[in-house]
Amino acid sequence: MNALIVYASRKGQTRKIAARLGDMLEAAGHDVRVVDVLELPARFDVAAWDLVVVGSSVKFGRHSGALEEFVRAHRDILAHRRTAFFSVSGAAISKTPEAEKDLAEQIEAFCRDTGCRPDRVASFAGAVPYTRYDPITRYVIKRMQKKAGRSTDTSRDHEYTDWAAVEEFGRELAGLHRPTGKPLAPVTP
Ligand SMILES: Cc1cc2nc3c(=O)[nH]c(=O)nc-3n(C[C@H](O)[C@H](O)[C@H](O)COP(=O)(O)O)c2cc1C
Repeated sequence: MNALIVYASRKGQTRKIAARLGDMLEAAGHDVRVVDVLELPARFDVAAWDLVVVGSSVKFGRHSGALEEFVRAHRDILAHRRTAFFSVSGAAISKTPEAEKDLAEQIEAFCRDTGCRPDRVASFAGAVPYTRYDPITRYVIKRMQKKAGRSTDTSRDHEYTDWAAVEEFGRELAGLHRPTGKPLAPVTP
C-alpha cells in the first residue's frame, strides 16, 4: 500500500503528528509521502495513492479551509480510496463536555462540507507554543490557559499531544487494506 498524508498546520503540531504517522506507515513497509496542503503541486495525482490521510488543526472553530478545499476537489477519487482524517486542537486538551461537543461539531462540519467519508477519524490534543506566538496571541492564549488551569509559563512551549494515542492511530492506519473500489459507508465522527 502507498499512503499520502496531507496536513494543514500553523505552528507545527499537526505537521509533527503527520510526520509521526508517516514514519509509522513507512516502518510498516508502505510507501509514504507527507506533504503540507499549501505546498502541494498544482496538478497532484491523488488517484495514485491507496490510503489518503488528511489532518488539520482547529483555529477559531474551524479546520483548515485549504485542506477542506483539497478534500472537496478530490472527493470523487477519495470515495474510492481508504481515507482518514485527524483533528488537532485545544479542545482535545481541555476535554470539557462543552469543548468536546464543539469539537465533534467541527469535525462533523469538516466531513459534511467536504463530502468526505473517512474510514477513520481521530482527534488529538495539540500544543501551546507560547514562544512562537505574536505578543497579542500569546496574551490571549495565556489568559485562556490560566482560566483552564494550565501552564502560563510563556518562556517555553507546552505540548499536550498524547503520542500513545497517535501511535495507536498509526497502527490502525497501517492495518487498513487496499481499496475495494466500492464507495465507503458514511461514518459519524
Ligand atoms: C489563534 C488560535 C486560535 C485557536 N482556536 C482554537 C479553536 O477554536 N478551537 C480549538 O480547539 N483550538 C484552538 N486553538 C488551539 C490549536 O488548535 C492548537 O494550538 C494546535 O496545537 C495548533 O496546531 P498547529 O500547530 O498544527 O496549527 C487555537 C490556537 C490559536 C493560536
